[in-house]
Amino acid sequence: MTDLIQLERQLLARIASADERALEELRVTALGKKGAITELLKSLGTMSPEERKDKGPQFNGLRDRIAEAIAARKAQLEDRVLNERLATERVDVTLPVADVERGIIHPVSQVLDEITAIFADLGFAVAEGPDIEYDDYNFTKLNIPPEHPARQMHDTFYLKPQADGSRHLLRTHTSPVQVRTMLKQQPPIRIIAPGRSYRHDSDATHSPMFHQVEALVIDEETHLGNLRWLIEEFCKAFFEISNVRMRFRPSYFPFTEPSMEVDIGCDRSGNRIKIGDGNDWLELGGSGMVHPHVLELCGIDPKRYQGFAFGLGLDRMAMLKYAIPDIRSFFESDLRWLRHYGFMPLDIPSLEGGLSR
Ligand code: DAH
Repeated sequence: MTDLIQLERQLLARIASADERALEELRVTALGKKGAITELLKSLGTMSPEERKDKGPQFNGLRDRIAEAIAARKAQLEDRVLNERLATERVDVTLPVADVERGIIHPVSQVLDEITAIFADLGFAVAEGPDIEYDDYNFTKLNIPPEHPARQMHDTFYLKPQADGSRHLLRTHTSPVQVRTMLKQQPPIRIIAPGRSYRHDSDATHSPMFHQVEALVIDEETHLGNLRWLIEEFCKAFFEISNVRMRFRPSYFPFTEPSMEVDIGCDRSGNRIKIGDGNDWLELGGSGMVHPHVLELCGIDPKRYQGFAFGLGLDRMAMLKYAIPDIRSFFESDLRWLRHYGFMPLDIPSLEGGLSR
């Protein structure tokens, strides 16, 4: 009995002053497979029933108290480590921030925010669609049926065929968002749809993944004059100039009739393109009056409604506005490039606050 009391006292004293390593050693020597208390417990098996009745509770009690003491000491040590860390790693949040890496807004995000601010001011909502799209929405409902030659110009990335033989694809333009919007909403419709598009193409002005922004207006009375005004107002606000020259060239898109390509006046005499002045032209994107067949395919009565749409290259708009020479650099994730061309996170573009500042 006195042996047991002594063993307990010794162990408790050593536990009380142990550091983490010593504590683990103590646990092994007392409670481990060959530990002192474990051996005592094992000896119960060789005892007579009366003796076992006497010693059993004593040994078990000892084991429980030691285990408890070890756990308590462990918690105490952990607390101490935490408190030490809290004391030494304290940060004075009122001190000025020095040399901290800051997040930077990518020019594409910036331009997207700028464009959204301009169109929101004109009463447009932002619509979205998925990057992986149905062939039907990307082509057929836009009046580009299977085997239509216009499909070939899209350099499409197709996904594996579905069980029914149809193939999903990476959308080749943001125009399928027009389809999605019309399928679920009756006019009046006024949306822009910015987002990623994909084509099998890569050089200084083409990237296999690029960004477009689509605009769609459907109502009872819409005409080319509205379209022209809208693009002009948008360009003035976006390029932050009071005068723009615009030119519409006849073109062809299966989903618009008539179709036009939009050019904006610019000056190429220096080593960077200047929008607004000069005698040159720069292509901005495609536009036109929505083809009645498209309206019909999307559940809108073409006898009652008509509308217009246009699609612009967002990366291209960023390149023009911020004089960025190569589209591929947008997607190389080079931090030096981002620090040079990027924007501060809190400078959110707004018409009142200034778009690009
Ligand atoms: N989706 C066309 C493309 O990527 C661009 C375009 C042209 C969009 C005319 C339109 C439009 O909405 O009306 O080449």
